[in-house]
Amino acid sequence: MGINIVGMGSYVPEQKFTNDDFARFVETNDEWIRTRTGITERRMAGWEPTWYMGTQAGLRAIEDAGISPEDIGLVIATSVTPDFLTPSMASVIQDKTGAVNAAAFDLNAACTGFIYAIDTARRFLETDDDLKYVLVVANEALSRFLDFEDRSSCILFGDGAAAAIVEKSDKLYVSHLASDGSGASHLCARSLNIAPEVKVESDFDDGFRTNGLHKLYQNGKEVYKFATQVLPKSFEILSEKSGIKKEEVDWFIPHQANVRIIETAAKKLGVSMDKFIVTLDHYGNTSSASIPLALCEAVENGTVKRGQKLAMIGFGAGLTYGGVLLEY
Ligand code: UT7
Repeated sequence: MGINIVGMGSYVPEQKFTNDDFARFVETNDEWIRTRTGITERRMAGWEPTWYMGTQAGLRAIEDAGISPEDIGLVIATSVTPDFLTPSMASVIQDKTGAVNAAAFDLNAACTGFIYAIDTARRFLETDDDLKYVLVVANEALSRFLDFEDRSSCILFGDGAAAAIVEKSDKLYVSHLASDGSGASHLCARSLNIAPEVKVESDFDDGFRTNGLHKLYQNGKEVYKFATQVLPKSFEILSEKSGIKKEEVDWFIPHQANVRIIETAAKKLGVSMDKFIVTLDHYGNTSSASIPLALCEAVENGTVKRGQKLAMIGFGAGLTYGGVLLEY
């Protein structure tokens, strides 16, 4: 059993942050950021809560699908930057979107979150005859978790949200989900409840860096190496499972972290960059929201059309990775 993406919606905050804006407080410049990452600008949420962005994207997806929110039976929200440790973003979004008959939970698979959530939605749809629609919402406010003294990480990320309404379908669908937890400390942020005076490293040496309390730490080189390996590997797995060859795929929609990662993967796969949807130039890396933001934009501007085959592949903290190959 596969899924049909009935409708999509996205929301990004108004405020744009250019590469030059970073040069005001860290030693960097537009040329370095553009050539090393492909990023030109990103959006910043300011005080807009993560759930607000998710709700706006959710409402737009519901409108696009032309369904009643009362027909949604499940809300899955993905975020590495939730507003609360509890309640879940999904519960708040369920209320704000009027999905009064839905169950709700959050899922954290970092930048692979949307892939995990879509696949989880499909499994719920397959096993629950009464479930008609699932609302998947990826919402992220990375700017609130960045170490703005660390020029190698703060320039990479941005904020935004995107959502999809999915239903059962017999269209093409294969997936694979994976994790390599041995690399977990390469990309991490501690919870707020670890006080600065607790010497975590010496008292309980768990191997994780404490970067500016709960701010994001990234070992860029290790994550880069991982990303350039798993992106092509994920596609090979999807291809083997489905029997669909790379030439038959209309669009590759990878996690939007660094254009050099995408270019390296394209080269390894022997696929032209023209087949890859890239939006990181204007949104930066929005973690779990990056793939659905790219898909939503490509649907809205007519690039992605009904009946086309899409390979969506994510990778990120965990270190998680995985992909979905489906007919749109
Ligand atoms: O969604 C999660 C997935 N995350 C990723 O996929 C990120 C993966 N990693 C990357 O994209 C890249 O490793 C980075 C963009 C983070 C870094 O690019 P790089 O080409 O690997 O640079 P580097 O770390 O090798 O640094 C090269 C130089 C260093 O200076 P020295 O030591 O050679 O003097 C850095 O200090 O560039 C310096 N540098 C900067 N210079 C200007 C690092 N950040 C900056 C900066 N502006 N913003």
